Amino acid sequence: MSEVGFIFDLDGVIVDTAKYHYLAWKNLANELGFEFTKEQNELFKGVSRKRSLELLLEMGNVKATKEQFDAWMAEKNQDYLAYIEKMDASEILPDVPKVLEFLKSNVIPISLGSASKNAKPILEKVDLLSYFDTIVDGNSVSKAKPDPEVFLIAAEKLRVLPENCIVFEDAVAGVKAANAANMISIGIGDKEVLREANFVFEDFTEISLDFLKKLAKI
Ligand code: BG6
Ligand code: MG
Repeated sequence: MSEVGFIFDLDGVIVDTAKYHYLAWKNLANELGFEFTKEQNELFKGVSRKRSLELLLEMGNVKATKEQFDAWMAEKNQDYLAYIEKMDASEILPDVPKVLEFLKSNVIPISLGSASKNAKPILEKVDLLSYFDTIVDGNSVSKAKPDPEVFLIAAEKLRVLPENCIVFEDAVAGVKAANAANMISIGIGDKEVLREANFVFEDFTEISLDFLKKLAKI
């Protein structure tokens, strides 16, 4: 049993899919007759598909029947999947493979901790699935981030204590979830947006090997 474990969010941390989620929600908002900005989209990062649609409808002041709600949720996902379809390994974010390779070669357990129900096919598509010892995604949780459930399940599956887990997150909700799980939170993105994280880096190219070694206790 390794002392430490690393948990990666997917969208916006491993792959550049956050922009596709944004575009798909924006398309739906426009179709329903209102705008949806990048600033508003920050609130959607890390948030489940269902909760995201609830937020979107609140923003547009749109009421929906259960049938309409389900249909719009399916429509957004189809739109998103059409973007994903064209995706390849070039959309892996900079230096992610290098970090995964470093952890793997040091036999440090790695889990995914994502809200997405599309996580596995995306990892397969970009050929990174084999790095993960376990996958915890939107299909395995009942409570969405900022609830810590997703990361606590990941820690349990990795057989690592929560306080010895390191979480990489691009979402405010994800950073809150990692903090609530008593884990080390590392924000990937804007320092101001992710100010609640223990550490923040613009991307993985800013993370040195020395820092990784410290985190990994090697
Ligand atoms: C998160 C994204 O990783 O997954 C959110 O940050 C998204 O934007 C959520 O809504 C759910 O993803 P999916 O693929 O199940 O719709
Ligand atoms: Mg994310």
